[in-house]
Amino acid sequence: MPTSITLKARLGQELPAINRALTHAVETLPEPTRPIARHILDAGGKRLRPLLVVLIAKLLGRDDARIRELAVTLEMLHAATLLHDDVLDNALRRRGKPAAHTLFSVPSVILTGDALLAGANALVADWGDSRLSCCFSNATSQTAAGEILEIAAQYHVDVSAEAYENIVRGKTAWLIRSACEMGAIAAGGDDAAVRAAASFGENVGMAFQLVDDALDFAPESITGKPTGGDVREGKLTPPLRLYRDSLSDVERVAFDGAFCAGLITEDDAVAIAERIRVAGYDAVVRQQANAFLDMAHHALVNLPDRPERVILHQMADYVRDRKK
Ligand code: IPE
Ligand code: IPE
Ligand code: MG
Ligand code: MG
Repeated sequence: MPTSITLKARLGQELPAINRALTHAVETLPEPTRPIARHILDAGGKRLRPLLVVLIAKLLGRDDARIRELAVTLEMLHAATLLHDDVLDNALRRRGKPAAHTLFSVPSVILTGDALLAGANALVADWGDSRLSCCFSNATSQTAAGEILEIAAQYHVDVSAEAYENIVRGKTAWLIRSACEMGAIAAGGDDAAVRAAASFGENVGMAFQLVDDALDFAPESITGKPTGGDVREGKLTPPLRLYRDSLSDVERVAFDGAFCAGLITEDDAVAIAERIRVAGYDAVVRQQANAFLDMAHHALVNLPDRPERVILHQMADYVRDRKK
């Protein structure tokens, strides 16, 4: 598809400089934390958040090495949340590699997450702009709050769609929103531009998590994360909700019993994933993500009509269609 080739080529141009800035930023961390930070960062990842910072800033007229130094603070925050998240979720693989806590000790992984957060904070503080620091701080605390809400909802089947939305807004959308907002602030965007960037990011972030929930049932060889992790972790995500609603009364009682007791095995999870894929519930959830993406596209109308705006529209479509 020509559109995605253009997007891939465009993002490919940005990535080497972002990765170099990231390597440099890791060198500012205390020495004992670096092997763990490198383990997660060198394993890859899409670098969505720093790419958004760079593209929004470019759209608003700023394109220099300094903006990439800011951009990588969002990847450092993201990496910290992933280190912590895999401990919380007891997830064993990430980015196609063993999760850090399976190779290093849990305490050292938690503390490396803290060092990444603190190091990234220092790099943001260096800009001397309290709006950037505030944004970064909000992203950190809202992500933590979302994860806490999710823990409270785990192993329950009576979680409302509204409660799920609150969880996602915190644990995923806020960070992506802040990436866009910080790109706009650093580029000197006016209030309307900063608001538009924030709205774009928040809605892309909501859609991003819905698609992540759909991809949770895809093969690990594609995603680099264990298949059906969410059902084993007691998370009633949208595709799982559709699956549960499709069960007969007898089947549902059995499912609820195992789900709420945390007794779903790896084999059960793989079988449920297969049923979800065959029934096409993952595709239904991608369609549900469109409601947020429509709002994201709409927010871009309030930003300048430059080539980067086209790329951002394409990124919103990519979020819905992505395979990993
Ligand atoms: C995973 O994020 C965590 C979520 C918020 C769903 P990504 O899918 O962006 O992970 P990487 O960075 O590409 O590994
Ligand atoms: C993502 O939630 C939120 C954070 C990492 C903070 P998930 O638990 O769904 O993310 P993955 O699927 O493990 O990447
Ligand atoms: Mg997880
Ligand atoms: Mg997930």
